[in-house]
Amino acid sequence: MAENITNNAAWEQAKCLPRHIAIILDGNGRWAKKRLLPRNAGHLAGSETFRNIATYCKEIGIEYLTVYAFSTENWKRPEEEVGGIMKLLDKYLHEAIRDMREKNIRMKVFGDVSRLSPQLQQLIAETDEISKDIEGFQANICINYGGRAEIVRAAQAYAEDYAAGKVTDELTEDMFSNYMYSAGIPDPDLLIRPGGEYRLSNFLLWQCAYSEFYYTDTLWPDFTPQELDKAIEAYNSRDRRFGGVKP
Ligand code: FPP
Repeated sequence: MAENITNNAAWEQAKCLPRHIAIILDGNGRWAKKRLLPRNAGHLAGSETFRNIATYCKEIGIEYLTVYAFSTENWKRPEEEVGGIMKLLDKYLHEAIRDMREKNIRMKVFGDVSRLSPQLQQLIAETDEISKDIEGFQANICINYGGRAEIVRAAQAYAEDYAAGKVTDELTEDMFSNYMYSAGIPDPDLLIRPGGEYRLSNFLLWQCAYSEFYYTDTLWPDFTPQELDKAIEAYNSRDRRFGGVKP
């Protein structure tokens, strides 16, 4: 059991955990600036927080964790920063390949991986392959991901299947969901944004239609399991009606 579990027993007893949590990793740069460190030191700290929070999610029984690590817009950042983030992703994927089986963790990357280096693409293919044999907690990392681009890609894929006669039924929301990177995964119940901003930033636009939002000023590298507990508590206090009314 990880040391940072704060109230595992309480959550198990309460049995109202979100199945799927999505997080926008934000605030790494400001965290570094406050310490007079280069921005990449913030991303390094952020990647460690991701490991810690993913471990905690798995321990308390969350089934899916999806994080926004690199958006389609993030290529506009200085070359050195982009290179630093790619190196961290490379390191993380190497470790994942080593540990996934033992820790019973599935891993997926959501996004257009064709713009990533051949080495990163190879590592992603390996994590996909290993994930096929695992039934457990699933971590999804969004890299070169944009919510609008994902919807357009899904529409193109559906149109191709339709033109080829592979689908003949009228398009439904459920069918369309199966063209998303998140096919087969329940939509996020809870979306967390640290870093004090109050926007969606093109993250999981299709999937977050009914997600509960939790915002905090805490910068991502400072985000702790205790803060996750607070977000889950807030989630539990919400009245989810999915557009209907309570009987
Ligand atoms: C946003 O903070 C963060 C990013 C764009 C990069 C996140 C990447 C990592 C944590 C590294 C690898 C991740 C994994 C999952 C292994 P920001 O730089 O926009 O912060 P700021 O708003 O304070 O400038």
